[in-house]
Amino acid sequence: MSEWKAIVALEEIPQLGSRVVRAGSGDIAIFRTSSDKVFALHDQCPHKGGPLSQGIVHGEKVTCPLHNWNISLVDGTAAAPDEGQTACFEVKVENGQVFLKT
Ligand code: FES
Repeated sequence: MSEWKAIVALEEIPQLGSRVVRAGSGDIAIFRTSSDKVFALHDQCPHKGGPLSQGIVHGEKVTCPLHNWNISLVDGTAAAPDEGQTACFEVKVENGQVFLKT
């Protein structure tokens, strides 16, 4: 059964950056946008597995550091004309604390 787990304080995630959480199914990148929205994606680009946590966040997308694909933080899909999708996870922020559903 999935459950919410407190993982990091919001202020510990740099704006337009991310923190990586180790999970049983692989690393999960927690992203923070310029408007303090938080998203969680499997830390693997759908192209060739690049580390999305090291990419650049803009709007609600992250640009993969390897070949510049743009991946949606909302649903993990690659922006056209590229195709693919990485897994995304539910996150929420309560009282400055980020919770992840795994
Ligand atoms: S691995 Fe991400 S764009 Fe190629």
